[in-house]
Amino acid sequence: MKLRCISCEKRHPSDGVTLTCPSCRGLLEVEVPLPYRPKFVGRGVWRYAQLLPVKQEVTLGEGDTRLYRCSRAGMRSLWVKCEGGNPTGSFKDRGMTVGVSLAKRLRRKILVCASTGNTAASLAAYAARAGLRAVVLLPAGKVATGKVAQAVIHGAELVQIQGNFDVAMALVRGLEREGHVYILNSLNPYRLEGQKTLAFEVCEELSRAPDFVVLPVGNGGNVSAIWKGFREWKAMGLCGRLPKMIGVQAKGAAPLLAGHAISHPQTVATAICIGDPVNASKALAAIRESRGRVVTVSDREILDAQQWFARTEGIFVEPASAAPIAFLRRQPLRGIVVAVTTGHGLKDPDAVPRLRVRRIRPTLDALRKVLE
Ligand SMILES: Cc1ncc(COP(=O)(O)O)c(C=O)c1O
Ligand SMILES: [Zn+2]
Repeated sequence: MKLRCISCEKRHPSDGVTLTCPSCRGLLEVEVPLPYRPKFVGRGVWRYAQLLPVKQEVTLGEGDTRLYRCSRAGMRSLWVKCEGGNPTGSFKDRGMTVGVSLAKRLRRKILVCASTGNTAASLAAYAARAGLRAVVLLPAGKVATGKVAQAVIHGAELVQIQGNFDVAMALVRGLEREGHVYILNSLNPYRLEGQKTLAFEVCEELSRAPDFVVLPVGNGGNVSAIWKGFREWKAMGLCGRLPKMIGVQAKGAAPLLAGHAISHPQTVATAICIGDPVNASKALAAIRESRGRVVTVSDREILDAQQWFARTEGIFVEPASAAPIAFLRRQPLRGIVVAVTTGHGLKDPDAVPRLRVRRIRPTLDALRKVLE
């Protein structure tokens, strides 16, 4: 197994600890040897163990999430891959089971990440299960309450940074060469290997690759991981064509559309409130190669879509995950479309509008009046 730099194309040995190119500091991609006749056994992420860079050490039963057919958005063939069904309620668990398994093999003692919330929640849970220490850097005041609660209850050490996610991420990157810590942000190409399994599950369930995959983009790790998954599936001869990848950003936090980093990203979708995506070049390559595009939606559209989706399809997703739904409501696509809803709605209860609740006297008469 080798690592390939996506900037200078050099190949490096895959030692598990080199996270960026030693020659040019570019982003690395894991090159797994693709089996001629792959065998998939069991369910979830580890079903695809043959295509993963490490043996399973730590698992909570991640992956194998529901793919719902959703007919109310006015599209004939819209499927929603609900990643809120993962153990900690987001897609991050797919990557974390692989990343923390590797950290354990490498005998790293301290696992570190910067996070808009979900990575911290996921890392906290997997570190707990592995018996390792987790230190998570969070931008002060910009993380949804459910995610902070998860990190706390799983025993992670929380560090608040005065500044946004990008400031926290820059700090974590400074630790890359310190021997005892292991960075589990999406900069880590091994973690992304776990996330590519979403593509495999979709292809298996639909018996083909979809025409479009629409998903929210923050740091750009997930879109590139999923694209890699589809490419590998096709390279093994298991599907004929590849989907177009549509990356959705919030209007106030859309560096990929702007083509440069932005210093003060702002959106209600805190999970994707990122101005300087670490995986920008990987994400843009995935979108370009797939002949997809980057689109944006406003905060209003996101919140409207979140509520609409919960009320019409019965699925509660967090604001970032409503971004692809918001885009598709505005611009339905033709063909088989898979929208990825990346995190559960309960992660961010404060994003839900406070409704006025009726109070009644505790009598049947009063209750009957309500039911009239
Ligand atoms: C719910 C949710 N959706 C989307 C994203 C964006 O994923 P990526 O940073 O890999 O682009 C995140 C990242 O934190 C997230 O938590
Ligand atoms: Zn390089």
